[in-house]
Amino acid sequence: MTVELDWANLGFSYMKLPYRYIAYYKNGQWQDSGLTEDATLHLSESSPALHYGQQAFEGLKAYRTKSGSIQLFRPDQNAERLQRTADRLLMPQVPTHMFVDACKQVTKANKDYVPPYGTGGTLYLRPLLIGVGDIIGVSPAQEYIFTVFAMPVGNYFKGGLAPTNFLIQDEYDRAAPHGTGAAKVGGNYAASLLPGKKAKNTGFSDVIYLDPATHTKIEEVGSANFFGITADNEFITPISPSILPSITKYSLLYLAEKRLGLTAIEGDVYVNDLDKFVEAGACGTAAVISPIGGVQNGEDFHVFYSETEVGPITEKLYKELTGIQFGDIEAPEGWIVTVD
Ligand code: PLP
Ligand code: COI
Repeated sequence: MTVELDWANLGFSYMKLPYRYIAYYKNGQWQDSGLTEDATLHLSESSPALHYGQQAFEGLKAYRTKSGSIQLFRPDQNAERLQRTADRLLMPQVPTHMFVDACKQVTKANKDYVPPYGTGGTLYLRPLLIGVGDIIGVSPAQEYIFTVFAMPVGNYFKGGLAPTNFLIQDEYDRAAPHGTGAAKVGGNYAASLLPGKKAKNTGFSDVIYLDPATHTKIEEVGSANFFGITADNEFITPISPSILPSITKYSLLYLAEKRLGLTAIEGDVYVNDLDKFVEAGACGTAAVISPIGGVQNGEDFHVFYSETEVGPITEKLYKELTGIQFGDIEAPEGWIVTVD
């Protein structure tokens, strides 16, 4: 039994579900973990997460299959990325088994909110790790909260599989060359709010950032990674120490090569070379695969495949990826974790 919601038109909005998971780190260890109905966090006014951004988050989804069962897509990869982010910000790691178990518990407890198969909706899980406690100097917290909450979601970008346009940003960077771009920390997103708003106010879905050192190469979208397809059947996605290592992107690199027979390349994508791409897209957990119709680069507007139609290879990649996520296509070993 699921609840009554307009499953096909969910968009990407917060919804307060009945249950979330919370765990406290004190005296050097994780303790007092479990589900709670309390959707608020109680923390010291001096918590380092609030003042100095000592916090990190993740994003992954639970999918309802045709048979009605529920499954997670590569949650171990999110756990490992959160561990790398935690190392960068001197926070304690959440062990993989604890992370995956928390995601499973929250999904199971809110299972009536996992959208029905065929609606395109999914349950978005948001794990969050924050440094808390009474500290005012710039130093790492002694206490932490790890929580996982969830909400049903649909499309992140309004087009879904219909292409939308993006703005190449030369004025702002989301991350520094040796900063925290590869870590999933709130500060990167705070830095993207103003350029993101400017892009949206002028009709673009989001910003495409350039490499912060030279501004000659594509880095990524504010909320997703970038990929392009060449006429020679190459799937190319940028490589850089300051972009978020997207789990969707690495999944697509694998699927492009092993399932679609493309040449999969993680390499430099020069902004002056965009002509070589016959298709392009944004990829991520929230974005799934969102085709990029055109990009504005200064005075120049460049259309990839079409501003209204998804390209054939992007569509094939979308079908392969979502087919695996919703359980219709066999997954590579270890990619799917069943919830019940
Ligand atoms: N890049 C940024 C800046 C993101 O926020 C996200 C979303 O998580 C991604 C890329 C895509 O990563 P993933 O595929 O792991 O969701
Ligand atoms: C995700 O895709 O999970 C993200 O974190 C992107 C965005 C909602 C910030």
